[in-house]
Amino acid sequence: MKYTRADFPEGFLFAAATSAYQIEGHSFGGAGRTHWDDFAATPGNVVRAEDGAIACDHYHRFEEDLDLMAAMGLDAYRFSTSWARVMPDGRGAPNQQGLDFYDRLVDAMLERNLKPMATLYHWELPSALADLGGWRNPDLPKWFGDYTRVIIERIGDRMFSVAPINEPWCVGWLSHFLGHHAPGLRDIRATAHAMHHVLCAHGRAVEVLRDLNVPNIGAVCNFEYAHPATDSQADRDAAQLYDGYYNRFFLGGLFNGAYPDTVMEGLEPHMPKGWQNDFPLIGQKLDWLGLNYYSCKRIAATDGAWPAHKEVEGPLPKTQMGWEIYPEGLRHFLTWVDEHYTNGLPLYVTENGMANPDTPDTPDTARIDYLNQHLGAARQAIADGAPLKGYTFWSLMDNYEWALGYEKRFGLIHVDFDTLERTPKASYHALARALKA
Ligand code: NOJ
Repeated sequence: MKYTRADFPEGFLFAAATSAYQIEGHSFGGAGRTHWDDFAATPGNVVRAEDGAIACDHYHRFEEDLDLMAAMGLDAYRFSTSWARVMPDGRGAPNQQGLDFYDRLVDAMLERNLKPMATLYHWELPSALADLGGWRNPDLPKWFGDYTRVIIERIGDRMFSVAPINEPWCVGWLSHFLGHHAPGLRDIRATAHAMHHVLCAHGRAVEVLRDLNVPNIGAVCNFEYAHPATDSQADRDAAQLYDGYYNRFFLGGLFNGAYPDTVMEGLEPHMPKGWQNDFPLIGQKLDWLGLNYYSCKRIAATDGAWPAHKEVEGPLPKTQMGWEIYPEGLRHFLTWVDEHYTNGLPLYVTENGMANPDTPDTPDTARIDYLNQHLGAARQAIADGAPLKGYTFWSLMDNYEWALGYEKRFGLIHVDFDTLERTPKASYHALARALKA
């Protein structure tokens, strides 16, 4: 590794991230059915129709996984709690086994000096709520608040930080407009409702978290740098619109009390009634913002209905996902967000990483290069004045990559999905040396 802990400010946190449905093994411990189980059971949605029923079996192996994290020298662990594990029907009676599991998990983190950074929704909506319209239902924010209270009353006393929702763009646009994630809709009206309700749910959860005196409350958004495919005005406008609905819509709601005009040109006729009145709920004071960053896109204008654009292939080296490697984007977003939205609020990189077709015995030098490039970009952003307080790698271990199943490997630790054996990769050892140096 090119950098060590000593290249970052005193107290800078290094962490790794996972999410519940991607690693736990959702079939264990009395969890309720989720819309991801349903989506994966519908042919054509997920590669080989794989689901998270077993995943990495973290539910039974979490002590081993936390030992590996502690041995790496990490300071914190970004994990998520599963709504359907805590409340199988999304509302009503909690599942005691589920609450006990998170209780043990958090204690096991603290025993190993790992700071718990919780996310309360990382995409597996209880099916019982999906049946009621899921994120289209205006009551979802209230139900999410009720679940927040139940899980936080159990583990909130030991959290380093809490973020209600992971990547609202994916909850809204990717899942309701592009249909790539559960519930797999391609419907602009559903999209407008989901994009707004997910922010209302964030706001409702923040109210509950404040009420329960949880410290260090934040939000986690994802960012993609949008390059115009050519210099033409039409492509530049298309890239700006992409930037609007991807990067600026949620920041606008959270920090500016408004959505970008370019995006509202398409979404306004489809917004839920009274949406203009919800900004006080959405825009409550936060303690930090988390940025998930992986890549950039090349955007070209097309004919057709709004938003009338397409993605074209770019020239840079790509990861196993086909995503271009563009560390400059990370530097850009860290300083741009601070300047235009968060103004001095602490920032964290809450996800950054790459998929690679790893085997247990070939060194993943590509991942070490990726890490070096992005840690370098983070250092430059700090030098530019961004108040960056920590960096989280996605992911601790290979896991369920949603619609792409188990084939795309993002981990510092290799997982054999037949035997569930864990094998630390070269990147794990390199990061461990850098953190201990
Ligand atoms: C973002 C998501 O939060 C995570 O669930 C996913 O696995 C990674 N990006 C990689 O695609």
